Amino acid sequence: MSGELNGLKVLITGGASGIGRATAEMMQDRGAAVAVLDRAEGGPDGMAFARADLADAEGVARSLRDLAEGLGGLDVLINCAGIDLEAPSAEVTDAQWEEVIGINLTGPMRTARAAFPYLRASDRGAIVNVSSGAGLRPIPDRAAYCSSKAGLVMLSKSLALDWAEHGIRVNAVCPGAVETGLFRQSYKDHPDPEGRLELIRARYALGRVAAPEELAEAIVFLASPAASYVTGVALAVDGGRSFH
Ligand SMILES: NC(=O)c1ccc[n+]([C@@H]2O[C@H](COP(=O)([O-])OP(=O)(O)OC[C@H]3O[C@@H](n4cnc5c(N)ncnc54)[C@H](O)[C@@H]3O)[C@@H](O)[C@H]2O)c1
Repeated sequence: MSGELNGLKVLITGGASGIGRATAEMMQDRGAAVAVLDRAEGGPDGMAFARADLADAEGVARSLRDLAEGLGGLDVLINCAGIDLEAPSAEVTDAQWEEVIGINLTGPMRTARAAFPYLRASDRGAIVNVSSGAGLRPIPDRAAYCSSKAGLVMLSKSLALDWAEHGIRVNAVCPGAVETGLFRQSYKDHPDPEGRLELIRARYALGRVAAPEELAEAIVFLASPAASYVTGVALAVDGGRSFH
């Protein structure tokens, strides 16, 4: 399928690792020009990179503008950067709550706003927001995370409605469990990591954890002109968790 995205100008947040990295590499392999914005020290080889923290409004706006100007415009924004928080709901502090909402929900709104003039000028404008299965159906002890990801689903639908007249499609992908650093962190310090992993697998009809590339395929589809009539959708790529 190499070349199917020829010339597509793509900016991905969180492209330094995990799902974002797999998506960035897949898009580049298929002919897109890809730039990465992340708070990590560097991104994948051969891609423009800007270091910025989504919590820093000015830094994000500046970095996004620099990357978009470097690409010569922007057709696609993929909001993949995100953080997790597991904590009993009665103990979550305001600071923790605000950090999760700030990065997972306010962050994508910030990048979408900064990307808007570029996407509006494109004839293939699209945004894909990486939400979570936890934004469709709650998991225990993750009130802030679930709320931020449910908010991101509704942000996607709201922007899909508001920006349709500008030719910008906006969709969300809701991953199940995906083999990344963020996912491993969620069970590795548990007193019984293997037992915990078994419990997680059992939530999924397919009974297994996904590879990042399985998510990247869905993100690439929604970002590409192949999905030209798809907007406002929250696509569960979750091994069947949301129906069983
Ligand atoms: N892995 C899973 O099981 C899973 C499941 C559902 C949803 N998700 C979502 O997928 C997305 C990607 O997660 P992943 O599993 O690939 O995790 P990951 O930790 O491998 O990658 C996340 C990337 O986002 C970057 N990032 C985090 N906070 C940032 C900030 N404030 N500013 C800039 N960059 C920041 C990190 O540096 C990292 O490169 C996240 O939004 C996550 O919530 C993951």
